[in-house]
Amino acid sequence: MNLDDALALLDGARAEAEAAVAAAADVDALDVVERKWLGKNSPATAVNEAIKTFSADDRPRAGQAVGAYRSAVGEAAGARREALTAAAAATRGPGIDLTLGGHARPRGHLHLVTQIRRELEDIFIGLGYRVAEGPEVEDDWHNFEALNIPPAHPARSMQDTIYVDLGAAEQMMLRTHTSPVQIRTMESQEPPIYVVAPGRTYRNETLDARHSPAFHQMECLAVDRGLTMADLFGTIEAFARRLFDDESVRTRFRSDFFPYTEPSAELAVSCVFCGGDGCRVCSHTGWIELGGCGMVDPQVLAGVGIDPEEWQGFAFGFGLERIAMIRYGINEIRTFFDNDVRFLEQY
Ligand code: DAH
Repeated sequence: MNLDDALALLDGARAEAEAAVAAAADVDALDVVERKWLGKNSPATAVNEAIKTFSADDRPRAGQAVGAYRSAVGEAAGARREALTAAAAATRGPGIDLTLGGHARPRGHLHLVTQIRRELEDIFIGLGYRVAEGPEVEDDWHNFEALNIPPAHPARSMQDTIYVDLGAAEQMMLRTHTSPVQIRTMESQEPPIYVVAPGRTYRNETLDARHSPAFHQMECLAVDRGLTMADLFGTIEAFARRLFDDESVRTRFRSDFFPYTEPSAELAVSCVFCGGDGCRVCSHTGWIELGGCGMVDPQVLAGVGIDPEEWQGFAFGFGLERIAMIRYGINEIRTFFDNDVRFLEQY
């Protein structure tokens, strides 16, 4: 090969290479074209090999020709590659990187009081009870009279509430406890009856660390033949042990008075934190008061048409916030209603 042969070879190759680059339909085809026209077996390499046989005068010209060939074909291939890549991206649409992590949607959880309510429902359902409901706006009969609390009875002043005027003949009010659900259940069902009634209750209370005008209670009512206080005590013990997940919890019943139970008792459990020795949670008494209980007053049964000679009942009621406060050592009832997620998130 002499210089003229070399220049002619490169000229022809360049025209052919540029045509092949333009004809490459995709990046893979372009790779093949590039290897052929710029790679180890390309005309450029052949000329390079031959240069050492050229005269000293011819060598630089041959070298320049190889350089010009390489840059012309290389530039054409680069431009073609860019165009092919852009076209491919355009038909694929905006790139989706499947390896990127997703954006998790933040999910909340149930309010602490709702969690406690459901847990208690589960415990009682396990004991054979059903869940009953009643309205939060209650009439005087269900909230008071049927529970043996006639007008002017002193028990009413302890449970003052918000009275609402719905134009009904009877005085309506926000219920002061869940006990009216006892009456509604007995009015609508034949014994035997085993129900629990959780729900919102209201009282005319000034908001402080332990009192709130709106709070939650859970009522329990059993009506059956031959029920005695032993059934009441046994049921409360079974539920308290499950609730606090502690088989050593003891119960304490002290004489009390409620117009709708006879006899009545205040219900307390041994402190689950100190086992009864006395600590901050139980105010160093060893006991935690949960609520009230008793045998349903025969007059209450008779008032809803259940024969107290044939049927006996027991009932108890307690506050749900109180249970949550004991369980988690919370000393402010207000935190339940503030809706501050920094508090709620913890439970
Ligand atoms: N209703 C009472 C209260 O709100 C609690 C209570 C006491 C419920 C005795 C009962 C009961 O069912 O038998 O303070």
